[in-house]
Amino acid sequence: MARASSALGTIRELSDLEQQLHREHLIRLDPEGRRDRFNGIADDTFITHYSARCFAGVTRVFALVDHDGHVRGTGELHPPEGDEPADIAFSVEPQLRRRGIASKLFETVIAAARAEGFDQLRITSSSDNQAMRALARKFGASFAFSYGEAIGTLMVAAPPLAAGHDGKTLRQARAPAFAGW
Ligand SMILES: CC(C)(COP(=O)(O)OP(=O)(O)OC[C@H]1O[C@@H](n2cnc3c(N)ncnc32)[C@H](O)[C@@H]1OP(=O)(O)O)[C@@H](O)C(=O)NCCC(=O)NCCS
Repeated sequence: MARASSALGTIRELSDLEQQLHREHLIRLDPEGRRDRFNGIADDTFITHYSARCFAGVTRVFALVDHDGHVRGTGELHPPEGDEPADIAFSVEPQLRRRGIASKLFETVIAAARAEGFDQLRITSSSDNQAMRALARKFGASFAFSYGEAIGTLMVAAPPLAAGHDGKTLRQARAPAFAGW
């Protein structure tokens, strides 16, 4: 499994058996972080059901797993539905913010989206969530504002493959690299 490690832990995709780590991370978020992450009030019951849904279908969850095995940050990739683009979402526990964790998770989610062939991503939060807007703008998001929400859109289409590429390895060629963190 692709992964990248640093003093803070390892960034990797969570498996179906690791839902509990995801749920516990979301429950540890501070009240403001929960509100920003879910764009509204999210109690433990809501989070428990939300996390279960993330592991019951097609969502991919990438995480920073610390050296004690706790998930301290996540980046989620929810595939497109109908005409809607893929949705992405991020959270980092308060004591670990401003250390580049969400940026690394963002890179990882973009690489995974490219590997899946998604070319447009959407990120949504409350319109006063400056951290999320600054984070997403680093990756080229542009924002629209509506009814207290900030809706960011990013185009992430993969660059064309080199001439002579055999196409069979397309997915592999575009898989997350998790290089040097
Ligand atoms: C948004 C969030 C995920 C950022 O996590 P993070 O690990 O602290 O982010 P990074 O350290 O990678 O910072 C990325 C950029 O975001 C910006 N940023 C982060 N926190 C910020 C803050 N509090 N105020 C202003 N800008 C901020 C900075 O521009 C930073 O880049 P720089 O350090 O190169 O200047 C984190 O604050 C969080 O979990 N918030 C609660 C949940 C949430 O709002 N999720 C987003 C909606 S889905």
